[in-house]
Amino acid sequence: MTTSSQLTSIRVAFIGGGNMASAILGGLVQQGLAASTICVVEPVQAVREQLVQQWGVHATVDAAEASTQLEKANLVVWAVKPQVFQEAAASVTPWVAQALHLSVAAGIPSASLAQWLHTPRVVRAMPNTPALIGQGMTGLFANPAVSPVDRQLAEQVMNSVGQTVWLQDEAHMDAVTALSGSGPAYVFYVLEAMIQAGTQMGLSPAQARQLAIQTFKGASALAEGSADAPELLRQRVTSKGGTTHAAISSLEADQVGALFVKALHAARDRGEEMGKEFGA
Ligand SMILES: NC(=O)c1ccc[n+]([C@@H]2O[C@H](COP(=O)([O-])OP(=O)(O)OC[C@H]3O[C@@H](n4cnc5c(N)ncnc54)[C@H](OP(=O)(O)O)[C@@H]3O)[C@@H](O)[C@H]2O)c1
Repeated sequence: MTTSSQLTSIRVAFIGGGNMASAILGGLVQQGLAASTICVVEPVQAVREQLVQQWGVHATVDAAEASTQLEKANLVVWAVKPQVFQEAAASVTPWVAQALHLSVAAGIPSASLAQWLHTPRVVRAMPNTPALIGQGMTGLFANPAVSPVDRQLAEQVMNSVGQTVWLQDEAHMDAVTALSGSGPAYVFYVLEAMIQAGTQMGLSPAQARQLAIQTFKGASALAEGSADAPELLRQRVTSKGGTTHAAISSLEADQVGALFVKALHAARDRGEEMGKEFGA
């Protein structure tokens, strides 16, 4: 089985060097992977220069220029937009027959990845933006042809930028996208509303921001460390006739919880559509 020491000895190629690639690459380097063993194929010169300067990786403008590194790669991480994946795959496949492929591209089904990459050794990952600070949440899916060793490698790579959860059913990737993939935006949305309310009530924007953000952090930590369901934790701070009760009653009267659930279903449905749009 792959161990953490094997993670430090793999050779990785990134196709696309944008935000998500940079986060994962940074996580791997911080886990002890030598930057000199990492290559990035990235068409934008400024992005390449930033990666080379920050991490000391090898970066090339296209796959042909990276052919020697690609041929040695055990793992290829795909971090390009879904719209350009198929075209990028065509330019990379001549050199990567020996590699495991890990795709973070939203919505592209594993069958399409396997077809475009000419191998069933593909793992799909759906991370979120807190991966940029090592606090990501990633859903992983691999088809049955992917070996336990390959699964473990993919898991270790994504664990370098946060937590991971494996899915048995690929359709659940759209649920992960709706919940944790798009989830940071919902948190920011609620934060915006709390900060707006705080400033309306006379707090300074800085005070409202600190109060709102630390409340999110503290409540998340409380929920994570507790065996009780969020519903019970909420009921405990909601004494009848009190201030929290007034706020929750107002939210319930406007069916905010139900509307939130509806919003996540809309995100899941859009994910399904995108899978059909971008897939083979
Ligand atoms: N950011 C997130 O929170 C998040 C979460 C989950 C999944 N994802 C997925 O991660 C993938 C990357 O997202 P991102 O936010 O990192 O995007 P990004 O910052 O735009 O990075 C993608 C990079 O790939 C480059 N590229 C385009 N065509 C290429 C090619 N043929 N070969 C190599 N590189 C190429 C792009 O250059 P150009 O600008 O010239 O096109 C860009 O610099 C997407 O599929 C997205 O769905 C992102």
